Amino acid sequence: MTTINQFFIKFSLSLLFGALIIGVIASIAFLYPQSFNSWFPFHKLRPMHTSFALFWIISGAAGCICYFKNQLQPNDGIFQRASSIFMVTWMLTILAVFIHYSLNHYGGREYWEFPPYLNIPLLAAWLFLTFSIIRGFNRNSAAYEWMWFTGIIFFLITFTEQNLWHLAWFRESYIREVTVQWKANGSMVGAWNQMINGLSIFLLVRISGDTRLANSRKTYFLFFLGLFNLMFNWGHHVYNLPNANWMRAVAYGVSMTEWVILIMIIRSFRKTLTEGKKLRNYLPYRFIAAAELWVFANLFLALLMSIPAINRYTHGTHITVAHAMGTTIGINSMILLAVIGYILKIDTLSEKLKKIIATSIRATNISLGIFWLSLIVGGLIKGYLQVNQPDLHFTLLMEKVMPFILSFTAAGIFVLFSLGTITFLFLKKPFPAAEQN
Ligand code: HEM
Repeated sequence: MTTINQFFIKFSLSLLFGALIIGVIASIAFLYPQSFNSWFPFHKLRPMHTSFALFWIISGAAGCICYFKNQLQPNDGIFQRASSIFMVTWMLTILAVFIHYSLNHYGGREYWEFPPYLNIPLLAAWLFLTFSIIRGFNRNSAAYEWMWFTGIIFFLITFTEQNLWHLAWFRESYIREVTVQWKANGSMVGAWNQMINGLSIFLLVRISGDTRLANSRKTYFLFFLGLFNLMFNWGHHVYNLPNANWMRAVAYGVSMTEWVILIMIIRSFRKTLTEGKKLRNYLPYRFIAAAELWVFANLFLALLMSIPAINRYTHGTHITVAHAMGTTIGINSMILLAVIGYILKIDTLSEKLKKIIATSIRATNISLGIFWLSLIVGGLIKGYLQVNQPDLHFTLLMEKVMPFILSFTAAGIFVLFSLGTITFLFLKKPFPAAEQN
């Protein structure tokens, strides 16, 4: 493993740290605008927080893929050079993003609200990643490599699509621009899910030692289902735009298949691994078990949110935020921490530190549960009042929602401590000398 790759994975973990800290400050700024508005208002902290969060997930996934790819092709100098260029350019651009944010330079579009010229080095970096991943890739490559490859290609496509607003034609019509933005952001989630699902399968193959899993029918089924999903699952992101009803129904059906992939992968972890193997990789396994819990919780929420009678109340409320954070923290981050924990051989830490991590996983689950439920209940009350009491003054409406924002913030502080402890211990742990299992 190259030193740059090691540094890159630690850099991704520090982005997770940033997401946690700025997330808590943003929620306090939302509660006490009079104290924050003059120096760091919520509307400036929010983009900073979401950039930290999205860059953590995308960088974490890309860094782990480069790490495993390097193990699969240890003597490929061109791969190492191209992936190093990707990593260095990507990290420097992310640093530039946060420097711009701290200098109050904003721009771009939602989730990418930095000066748009920075999209050029990001795009260039991703092209180097794409080139390096193509190396050694052929039609007989394992299903997880196909997942990495298609995830990376579709990120490239959706990232470009997300930038189409630079062309005047897309800005001429508000509906046109919003449709493309929502569609691009929705598909981008599918792209990083595909990369992360590939990593989960690779982890399963590695821990179980059963290489047949890499090319089994079931794994290829998951690959094709993932591909189908990342191409079409964005439909649920444009529910609220003018559309034919049958399109909404198709979009709903497609989105639901995403849960099948996650459930099948996680069930495989439970069924395929012997007790001995689970014990030897106890902490990565615990992260996967946590992701399982959040798959079911978010599946339940997604099923409810998609019922039109309920969607009428939930749209544009904190329920959407609960769905976004429930999946990015509970599922994406937990799986990435399982993979990074495996790379770091986190199970070789002292018993005391392992106990701290296991307790922190439990504490994260509990505090994230309160965090998530507070957003849902607050969102339901807001949605109900907006629809049924349209004349209610906004201040009075927010008074009813505020206790839930308060409990969300309090639980968020616990998430910061518990997930922050895990991140800190991961950041401190040196990479093992022997990388092959
Ligand atoms: C792993 C850590 C985290 C990740 C990956 C994450 C991810 C996200 C994402 C994707 C959004 C955008 C939601 C949307 O557009 O609907 C968001 C918004 C937000 N997050 Fe987080 N988050 C994390 C931790 C936290 C923590 C610990 C807090 C503390 C309370 C927090 C507070 C917020 C707030 C206040 C918003 C804005 C909500 C709004 O616009 O109404 N986040 N987060």
